[in-house]
Amino acid sequence: MAEHRIQLGEQLISCKTDETLLNALLRENVNISYGCQQGVCQSCMMRSLDSPPPSESQHGLTDKLKEQSYFLACRCYPQQAMRIGYRDHTDFVTYGTVSVKQNLNAETILLTLDIDNPFEYYAGQFVNLQRDDGLVRSYSIANNSINRKQLSFHIRRLAGGRFTEWAHEELKLGDRLSVSEPQGLCYYQSGKSEQPLLLIGTGSGLAPLAGIISEALHQGHQGEIHLYHGSRDINGLYWVEEMQQLADTHENFHYSPCVSQGEPASSMLAGRANDLAFKTLSDLKGWRVFLCGHPDMVNNSKRQAYLNGVSLADIYADAFHVASGSLD
Ligand SMILES: Cc1cc2nc3c(=O)[nH]c(=O)nc-3n(C[C@H](O)[C@H](O)[C@H](O)COP(=O)(O)OP(=O)(O)OC[C@H]3O[C@@H](n4cnc5c(N)ncnc54)[C@H](O)[C@@H]3O)c2cc1C
Ligand code: FES
Repeated sequence: MAEHRIQLGEQLISCKTDETLLNALLRENVNISYGCQQGVCQSCMMRSLDSPPPSESQHGLTDKLKEQSYFLACRCYPQQAMRIGYRDHTDFVTYGTVSVKQNLNAETILLTLDIDNPFEYYAGQFVNLQRDDGLVRSYSIANNSINRKQLSFHIRRLAGGRFTEWAHEELKLGDRLSVSEPQGLCYYQSGKSEQPLLLIGTGSGLAPLAGIISEALHQGHQGEIHLYHGSRDINGLYWVEEMQQLADTHENFHYSPCVSQGEPASSMLAGRANDLAFKTLSDLKGWRVFLCGHPDMVNNSKRQAYLNGVSLADIYADAFHVASGSLD
């Protein structure tokens, strides 16, 4: 199997043609930050110091970063020898102190961080959170952008998950986490107040959608807003009463909790959230759609939204890719 020689400072590493540069670096115990391994969180960003990096490894980066030969190590299959360096800045811009930790349901916690140096973000964006030992994971901001001093997250526990098991079991009030600058394009934009919105989320995919809904209602959004929140069973849902109350007090907000297996409660729908949404709302011409949560749901729904008439430019999505293993 062919290999390419990678130089990082004084260290020489061989990278096989069928492995990512990130995997080659990890194999050699190089201390590199990484998270999703899917080209989403950008925490594995590095810089090529001699040749242009493979174009696929620059997918999703800004033009400026591309011009400066930054690339994502988890998306980089080197095609030649490369001399590489760490990025010369960190995207961790502040610390946050845990001020709230509450159960939302048996598998999901609400975590609120008091932010040392509040920054601007759009409701629906995500940040990377970093532990003391460098472990990085992405979490969507669950609140609107009005009180920037606090960021809230919904963290669903994955069996065997390094960050989530630790966050559920060990993280406590007063603990500190590093917080990155906000990322992602799945956010509420003001200025199209009449446009109807459809939001579909599974599990903790409610987090960014809750932020977007809160922002939209706060900004006086006039168009209809439909939220479909789905889970396999009733125990995977949360904030059912809160969302129902919001629907009771805002004429243009409609809430549908959905359960795909087992018996739903009387106020809930039986079936997958995305199937039910697209069946009920079959003509979505002129709508804006937000999709968050399980990657399969997000991918299928993008296609279905387009088939139901949504313009591609109006489909916003964050698939909650996990680094390894799979989401149930
Ligand atoms: C843009 C974005 C936004 C996100 N927002 C949220 C959010 O708001 N809320 C949320 O809960 N999540 C969110 N996620 C997912 C989150 O970033 C983490 O991936 C997730 O919480 C799991 O992290 P972990 O460290 O606990 O699991 P990991 O340690 O990364 O493990 C993931 C899974 O793989 C399994 N696994 C690990 N190693 C192996 C192995 N060697 N072999 C087989 N299986 C293995 C684990 O058991 C686990 O089930 C988001 C992801 C992205 C990309
Ligand atoms: S983008 Fe490479 S680890 Fe997330």
